[in-house]
Amino acid sequence: MADIKDVIFSRRSIRWFKKEPVPDKDIDDIISAGIRAPTASAGEQWHFVCVTSEENRKKMLSFIKKGQMAYLSRALRSAPAKNEIDKWNEMFVKGIYDAPAYIIGLLDYSTRTLNDEYINYERMWGIESVTLALGNMMLLAWSKGYGTVFIAVPKFYEEDLKESLGLPARMEYAGMLALGKPAEMPELKPRKPLKITKI
Ligand SMILES: Cc1cc2nc3c(=O)[nH]c(=O)nc-3n(C[C@H](O)[C@H](O)[C@H](O)COP(=O)(O)O)c2cc1C
Repeated sequence: MADIKDVIFSRRSIRWFKKEPVPDKDIDDIISAGIRAPTASAGEQWHFVCVTSEENRKKMLSFIKKGQMAYLSRALRSAPAKNEIDKWNEMFVKGIYDAPAYIIGLLDYSTRTLNDEYINYERMWGIESVTLALGNMMLLAWSKGYGTVFIAVPKFYEEDLKESLGLPARMEYAGMLALGKPAEMPELKPRKPLKITKI
């Protein structure tokens, strides 16, 4: 069994993937690890959708591209220069984020846990719970030789995305993972020096 510390300290985001499909058994293992994450009020207000069909992967990829372009050109406080945007367009043509599987994490409010005046807390804790589940999935996937990247930007087109993929309108997009065997092994991204406030 892989050492948890090795898995955590060697994981890095992967954005270029091999074409080989992810077997169902591995997808099941990865999502099972996800739902072992802690969940606010033990509510399990989450729903995970695994996208593997050619048709739906193409749709997903187009939302990732639209989201990434909106992120670069509209959302970022310091928008990149045009040549940087051109570079991203080229990378999309070459297959960045084109993964054999995507796992979408949705916040599912079908069972509510808090009184209405606490809805902001319930939503925040629900999103946090989905994110912890996606974090578990990233680590289990890495331990099995798969790469992932957390992708937030399709959120900009949430309603269109849900309609296009037939996802339930009442659920909220929390985040997603692209998943597949890595076709690249980027350097580990450095972190700021460890600074702990001990009180
Ligand atoms: C909440 C969240 C949202 C993210 N959204 C995106 C995204 O939309 N696109 C992307 O390429 N990476 C995204 N990332 C990945 C980060 O860019 C990545 O984790 C960061 O650069 C550190 O690199 P590392 O994961 O290799 O250590 C996201 C990560 C998190 C935690």
